[in-house]
Amino acid sequence: MKIFLDTANLDEIRQGASLGVLDGVTTNPSLVAKEKRPFREHVLEICRIFEEHKIEAAVSAEVVSTDTAAILREARELATWHRFIIVKAPTTPDGVRACSILSREGIRVNMTLVFSASQALLVAKAGAYFVSPFVGRLDDISHEGLSIVREIIEIYRNYNFPTQVLAASLRGPLHVVEAARLGAHIGTMPFKVFEQLFKHPLTDRGLEGFLKDWEKAKESLGDILAPAVQKVGR
Ligand code: E4P
Repeated sequence: MKIFLDTANLDEIRQGASLGVLDGVTTNPSLVAKEKRPFREHVLEICRIFEEHKIEAAVSAEVVSTDTAAILREARELATWHRFIIVKAPTTPDGVRACSILSREGIRVNMTLVFSASQALLVAKAGAYFVSPFVGRLDDISHEGLSIVREIIEIYRNYNFPTQVLAASLRGPLHVVEAARLGAHIGTMPFKVFEQLFKHPLTDRGLEGFLKDWEKAKESLGDILAPAVQKVGR
């Protein structure tokens, strides 16, 4: 499963990219607004971070227009900014219409704000590159968000739709793990959730124990780096 960060914060993206397990970023107008910087400049900076880490990333940048003609104008412009950019558009009739036109032009579209399998079926038929079901926001209204991911994957498999399922609005590590078990192609998550994926108290406690034991017996064990250092020095 690919891992995306659901953020527009450059520090978080830098930290994430440096770990070598990140495949991209999803931004949305709310996340970008928090950063208070010119949109184009900011998105290009995100792309640059991935370039520096030699990651062929996917960076979603969302349109803010709502009618088809304006969505098309915005999307075509966004797509020229950088090869990493995936245009994000809302799953409305206007958005779906725009998606079918854009995908025929070869522009990759991430259809966002998907809350049902029926919407996901439509965006796949419109040639969406990614479909973004919002898991956490469905949980918030007492509807099991992951069940939508399951239904979408089942439908896409039935018909071999190439649209990739991007489980979005993931709120914790269990959402990520369950989305992966279901076979979602991608999970996008806030930086906090990404950090939680690494954590296990037994890893911390185990490492602490190993280092303490090493420290105690250090004198008799020698320096493991010494031979390598000698080699480099020669
Ligand atoms: C997806 O692309 C959205 O940006 C995102 O996952 C929304 O998540 P939220 O419900 O945590 O705002």
